[in-house]
Amino acid sequence: MMLIAGNWKMFKGPRETREFCAVFEPPGGIEAVLCPPFVSLTAALESEHTVFAQNVHWADEGAFTGEISAPMLREVGVAGAIVGHSERRQYFGETDETVARRAAAALGHGLRVIACVGESLEERESGQMELVLRVQIEAIAEATGPHDRLVIAYEPVWAIGTGLTASAEQAREAHAFVKSILDVPVLYGGSLKPENAGELLDEDGVDGALIGGASLDVESFTAICQAAASLS
Ligand code: PGA
Repeated sequence: MMLIAGNWKMFKGPRETREFCAVFEPPGGIEAVLCPPFVSLTAALESEHTVFAQNVHWADEGAFTGEISAPMLREVGVAGAIVGHSERRQYFGETDETVARRAAAALGHGLRVIACVGESLEERESGQMELVLRVQIEAIAEATGPHDRLVIAYEPVWAIGTGLTASAEQAREAHAFVKSILDVPVLYGGSLKPENAGELLDEDGVDGALIGGASLDVESFTAICQAAASLS
């Protein structure tokens, strides 16, 4: 079943979260997941929707100001977490090692994990895409192995929030490469919208999507879910 996840990033407090959840009706045949900011998790969990956090720490508890642990997420009913989003890697010093530790701890506590990987434009243009992806994925794979609650999100950094998307062919190639290293479902992410969702989701090896901007609007997120459902 395709997984369509909305990464709300630092948008929507509890009030807007409740408003979205009250009217969002995903179609059957796909799994829709909402990833609100931490303070809005419990508001989202008042609904029937599946809810993931946007990050999770590797320790159960401790002196880690500003972090949230897997047992805490489990306690409130969160089903999973994103780890290693490129914005975390780019702006908050996240490394392959910390991403791998977060993923392993979350899985160990029964959470599902969307682990993000992706190359920058410079890396792609200098022919280093496969090397970069390999290093990122192997770090995760070494810590977790293949796992039935783990999915990878392939998000080319140059396509995130830029309006540029990978072509269907680029997505197919990258997804096949990811699966050759770690055989788990692979989501595509990066400027996915209702207009391009059908084409990208129809590619071999694309098992769903991680959506930022277009997931904030209930109509566009629903349209993407419907595009996925029509392919299933
Ligand atoms: P975008 O973000 O859809 O706004 O490009 C995707 C993501 O960062 O997960």
